[in-house]
Amino acid sequence: MGMEGRMAVWYADNTGRDQRRFQSTAQLIVERTRDGAAVLEVAPGPGYMAIILAKSSRRVTALDISKTFIEMGRENARKAGVAIDFRQGNASAMPFEGASFDYVACVAAFKNFTDPIGAINEMHRVLRRGGQASIFDLRKDASMKDINSEVEKMRLSACNAFVTRLTFRFLLLKRAYTIDDLERMAKASSFQRWEIKSDGVGFEMRLFKE
Ligand SMILES: C[S@@+](CC[C@H](N)C(=O)[O-])C[C@H]1O[C@@H](n2cnc3c(N)ncnc32)[C@H](O)[C@@H]1O
Repeated sequence: MGMEGRMAVWYADNTGRDQRRFQSTAQLIVERTRDGAAVLEVAPGPGYMAIILAKSSRRVTALDISKTFIEMGRENARKAGVAIDFRQGNASAMPFEGASFDYVACVAAFKNFTDPIGAINEMHRVLRRGGQASIFDLRKDASMKDINSEVEKMRLSACNAFVTRLTFRFLLLKRAYTIDDLERMAKASSFQRWEIKSDGVGFEMRLFKE
């Protein structure tokens, strides 16, 4: 499911106000990769994290199914003065040769994929041996109390905070996965080694290509 048009503009405006989430995730990836590493961000939306990675000397490619986000990401990268190869395409049928990347990252998008195991298998295919993928997303058992405090940190207007809380409660939590679901998906995928950790309202699933 891609986000297009006004919905994409609303999302970009809401999430762009507080860059801390993108900065802390990008920092983790920078610590795990060398300068010049080929990093693929799957489902980057407006490209905020991809831009931070490109500013940190990573060679960044960004793949999103949404035409609006690809155009927006290109424009944001141009304004930020960084080169990012933005491509439109599906996480479960990536338009890349095998073994093209050292690291694949995917943030706040995995629960939206219609073929999540297909997406994990594509991450495996496009990674080089010794590379790894990190998927960060919301956990199904996150409490509304924790989600409300996350939304507070997003510095939204009262109206946008209300809509965002409703979106979490009635849409995002319904689609989100439990740690057990993620374990089952990793086992069914091409990866042989992985780690899944809970973190605040979310999780990180790290998948290693051996
Ligand atoms: C909630 S946004 C997350 C954007 C960004 N990663 C962030 O952290 O703000 C979800 C993104 O997933 C993208 N998306 C959904 N299904 C996709 C698919 N099958 N392949 C690639 N991108 C997809 C959407 O277009 C959107 O950009």
